[in-house]
Amino acid sequence: MNRALRKEYLHAIGIETWVKRETIAAPIQLRAGAVSAPADPVPPANLAPPTNPAPADLVPPAARVSAAGAASAAERERGVDWPQLEARVAACMRCPLHATRTQTVFGVGSRQAQWLIVGEAPGAEEDARGEPFVGRAGQLLNSMLRAVGLAREQVYIANVLKCRPPGNRDPAASEAAECLPYLEQQIALLRPKILLAVGRIAAQNLLRTDSPLGRLRLKAHRFGHSQVPLIATYHPAYLLRTPADKRKAWEDLKFAREVCARV
Ligand code: URA
Repeated sequence: MNRALRKEYLHAIGIETWVKRETIAAPIQLRAGAVSAPADPVPPANLAPPTNPAPADLVPPAARVSAAGAASAAERERGVDWPQLEARVAACMRCPLHATRTQTVFGVGSRQAQWLIVGEAPGAEEDARGEPFVGRAGQLLNSMLRAVGLAREQVYIANVLKCRPPGNRDPAASEAAECLPYLEQQIALLRPKILLAVGRIAAQNLLRTDSPLGRLRLKAHRFGHSQVPLIATYHPAYLLRTPADKRKAWEDLKFAREVCARV
């Protein structure tokens, strides 16, 4: 990507000056075994190949779930194809959110996508239109993706929850547990090279952790049996409220791009 274009994209996400990381901060030190955040533009030579055994704290969440209930929930949608899955989601009444939704919000984008973007849940506009990230947060998400050279149409976008929680409240644990098997099957069908979890709720649900987002960023987590790398970053709605953190989101996106290039 040429400099002028990059500058234009960075301007779109609210970053006016682009300074190479090594001039503004030392490389971030991560725990042993975690993938360190490489200083741009040095390639991430220390990226562990996906086939490497994951360190204890990077063990895929599914491997840690031993409760029979959780295991059978994960099995629920396994093996269904895209049209079947879409139909199951559209007819879903597994949690009380079906009573208040206008419609389900399945996901959108290329089914050949290398990047899967996972948000939290539909908001009011998404509930009305049936498509994820179509409001102001969605516009910022599009700009963030453009900043790393990705058009919205090139990626796949979905949420942890397929239905809007009333008043945009946080998803209940039970709602997420009922809905996650749909996302897991979307991941199985899509087989993305990378998952980008946008926001604390998405990251915590996918990684089954309550660690704060700040501790989850800039690490290449692994998700599920496929061990697909998962990178966590800020939610665009949060960035609209806290523009000072757009720079950190930009670091996350560059890191994700570098991880993706190594897969
Ligand atoms: N926020 C999300 O997390 N997902 C959407 O689809 C819209 C807003």
